[in-house]
Amino acid sequence: MAQAQTIEPRTAGGLGATERRDAWWVGPLATGLGLGGFVIYATFRAIYNADYRFGEGTGILPDHAYVLSPFFSPLLVFPWLPAWISPAFLILWAPGGFRVTCYYYRKAYYRAFFLDPVGCAVGEPGQFCGVPRGHQYKGETKLLVFQNLHRYFLYLALVFLVLLTIDVIDTCRWPTDNGGHKFGLSIATLVLATQTTLLTLYTVSCHSFRHLIGGRLDGFSRAPLGELRYRLWSWVSALNAHHMFWAWTSLFAVGFADFYVWMVASGRITDFRLI
Ligand code: FES
Repeated sequence: MAQAQTIEPRTAGGLGATERRDAWWVGPLATGLGLGGFVIYATFRAIYNADYRFGEGTGILPDHAYVLSPFFSPLLVFPWLPAWISPAFLILWAPGGFRVTCYYYRKAYYRAFFLDPVGCAVGEPGQFCGVPRGHQYKGETKLLVFQNLHRYFLYLALVFLVLLTIDVIDTCRWPTDNGGHKFGLSIATLVLATQTTLLTLYTVSCHSFRHLIGGRLDGFSRAPLGELRYRLWSWVSALNAHHMFWAWTSLFAVGFADFYVWMVASGRITDFRLI
């Protein structure tokens, strides 16, 4: 009978020391490029602080329905704030905090950015930023204790989903010559609707949301609304199995939605009306 192969961690061998023969480094590298690129882009757009909306009432394409970038939604503009404080900085901390404290992203960026560990059964550096690493790891009870705020960021994320849905509805309200509105659709509607749908799937597949729906129960059959909660918990559990997929697709969708609004608002491309 074939012997099962045991792969021992080799932290003593230094960073990257391993007996693994698979491409274990692809995941951390892709995470570093993807997350790093998104953070750089989002920070640039927040500092750029322009071309984040167009349509009725904005002075840009006044005959078009109102379209707002998700990076700036809800749009908080306070005249008494210095002009260099972008409205994006006032709100991005909430969805940013939701992602930073996400159980999946923690694993991903601990590996990609802190190499802690860089992969299963792969050697770690003996020290990081000059600080020796060993068995003094305190988990998320000391420096990383803020990660336990995740459930509260979830509550904020649910509020943002409502606001982003209102933004999608706004893209369907086209101004008419007599000062009213009529229904319409453009590419921007599809872009914003797609990113809001993916953000919804990412949010409801959250581990904390799953706990919110079905946690702290001894049995669904004895709980109030137990049948309904069991059904919801089953759906959420099915989505939860693909949480990483929703995390990445929603991240790229929200970045693309902002990029699309930027391109239209700056006059580089045209937003075609479909209906
Ligand atoms: S665990 Fe990822 S969003 Fe909650």
